[in-house]
Amino acid sequence: MLRVKSLRHGLLCCGFATLWLTAAAGVALAADASAPEATSSAPNSVQAAMALGAKATQALQDEKKKHEEEERLKGFGADWESWEPGNSVADTASLQRGARDYAAYCRGCHALKYVRYSRLGDDLQIPPDELQQYLLPAGAKSSDYVSAPMPTADATTWFGKAPPDLSLITRSLGTEHVYRFLTTFYSDPTRTTGANNLELPSAAMPHVLSTLEGVKVAVFKDGAFDHFVQVAPGSLSHEEYLATVRDLVNFLDYVGEPAQVHRRSLGVKVVLFLLVFTALTYLLKREYWKNVH
Ligand code: HEC
Repeated sequence: MLRVKSLRHGLLCCGFATLWLTAAAGVALAADASAPEATSSAPNSVQAAMALGAKATQALQDEKKKHEEEERLKGFGADWESWEPGNSVADTASLQRGARDYAAYCRGCHALKYVRYSRLGDDLQIPPDELQQYLLPAGAKSSDYVSAPMPTADATTWFGKAPPDLSLITRSLGTEHVYRFLTTFYSDPTRTTGANNLELPSAAMPHVLSTLEGVKVAVFKDGAFDHFVQVAPGSLSHEEYLATVRDLVNFLDYVGEPAQVHRRSLGVKVVLFLLVFTALTYLLKREYWKNVH
């Protein structure tokens, strides 16, 4: 009995000693290992991780570019008649970009005769100094209507047609039409403008966004449009170009009915009010009728 007990004792002691030794060795090892880490190899590993991250991002971008290039070579646009802008006038940042691009690429020819600059500033939350800097033409006041500098008679002589006022264009032709119009220009040397359009065949408008989009040609089969092939890149990728057009269409959608920006946010408030009001009325009804039942 005694022998068994002392054996157990011995074993226990041994166990503890081993544990202790292992722990001590572990601490020493850890201290050894962490010392150089903390000083020199930590920044190295961070750098290495960053380099890996950058490599991965680069690889992803290369992959995306390659994919876009392949898509381009295959051709695209067979489904152009179903293209939609998917814009939202509640997206103020998109409206601001649309206004900026409108001023840079469209106002030269197209006026917005029902809209004042000050209204744009208020609705699109553009501070007065930025309105002055990015939207107001030299000499214009913020209370002015958005007018085009080109006299209609000159425009008619140059293009054969006067560029229409765009205030109500999305309401008269629809946002889809304007979106498809701006996305289906293709190179056509037989036209004086050098370009043609699927949505508005023989359009008198030049492809004013071609520096952004690049140049595409249309391939026809049996006299019908089949697909586009991009033959020269623009300053934007295909996706970025579509986003730019979406912003422009969004801006023109807002311009067609500026009140919709406020109406939509007012609508949400009205519905919330009605919900709260219904709840209150219900509570009141319970209070009034509680003695009757
Ligand atoms: C160089 C002058 C010029 C510029 C700049 C210009 N357009 Fe035009 N635009 C025209 C002319 C001319 C027409 C008439 C085309 C026709 O009816 O054949 C037109 C027509 C239009 C139409 C009506 C299309 C239709 O189906 O009737 C829209 C929409 C339009 N332009 C949008 C724009 C937008 C958006 C921009 C800026 C990105 C822009 N335009 C820049 C000259 C211009």
